[in-house]
Amino acid sequence: MFLKWKLIELDEVDSTNEYAKRIAVNSPEGTVIVAKRQTAGKGRRGRSWKSPEGGLWLSVILKPPRLDPRLVFVGALAVVDTLEDFGIPSGIKWPNDVWVGGRKIAGILTEGKEGEYAILGIGLNVNNPAPEGVDNATSMIYHTGKELPLNLVREKLLFHLGKWYEVYLDRPTVLMDKVRERTFILGKIVKVEEEGRFIIGRAIDVLDDGSLILEVGGELKRILYGDVSLRI
Ligand code: ATP
Ligand code: BTN
Repeated sequence: MFLKWKLIELDEVDSTNEYAKRIAVNSPEGTVIVAKRQTAGKGRRGRSWKSPEGGLWLSVILKPPRLDPRLVFVGALAVVDTLEDFGIPSGIKWPNDVWVGGRKIAGILTEGKEGEYAILGIGLNVNNPAPEGVDNATSMIYHTGKELPLNLVREKLLFHLGKWYEVYLDRPTVLMDKVRERTFILGKIVKVEEEGRFIIGRAIDVLDDGSLILEVGGELKRILYGDVSLRI
């Protein structure tokens, strides 16, 4: 059974993830905070996420049995499927971005408190122009050639989120099979920043635990999600 979503719609908020964290303990699983604009949208490690009107900025409160870094892939796959519904082919840039034609269209930010809640935050550029000052960003409108009803995009995204969340809970290896299929960096040379150090290697595989395998100078190296930034 898919989750029943409970929507909280806001015109403006600092960050839907922050709002979600403030109410998470007292809110049921499936509560969704969606805002027209965020004044302090954020990415990983305090980076800023530009969130003007026209994009889809939302955070879902979940109560999974345990915190697991693979939750980020529930968001990434849901975005990929949503884009496909609108005829836009996309791929996952491990671990937390979705790209279309060499540009970033969406980002996922998961946060949580063990034993209490998980927050799955998704930012998807829809009708907003690709933000200025951000390298390599794109937006759905550039690929459809026309504005899209934001509510319809949200509906599709929530449908796919519910679907992948179930797979994540019941059959995580099936989720990871799909992630491998959709991860477009496999086979490519990438540069990973890990605690200030740079590693250049070929992306070989994503393991069932969500980590990335790089081939570096003939040796295999396992990169864990969470503390890395990856460039193609
Ligand atoms: P990457 O820069 O490749 O995404 P990352 O995943 O480690 O690496 P994050 O912190 O997850 O970086 O993402 C934040 C980055 O996303 C910002 O540094 C900025 O470059 C970019 N960004 C901010 N707003 C948007 C947006 N609306 N659309 C696309 N990209 C954005
Ligand atoms: C990334 O850095 O790629 C992740 C960006 C995540 C942005 C979304 S927008 C909705 C939610 N609220 C936030 O402040 N961040 C996430």
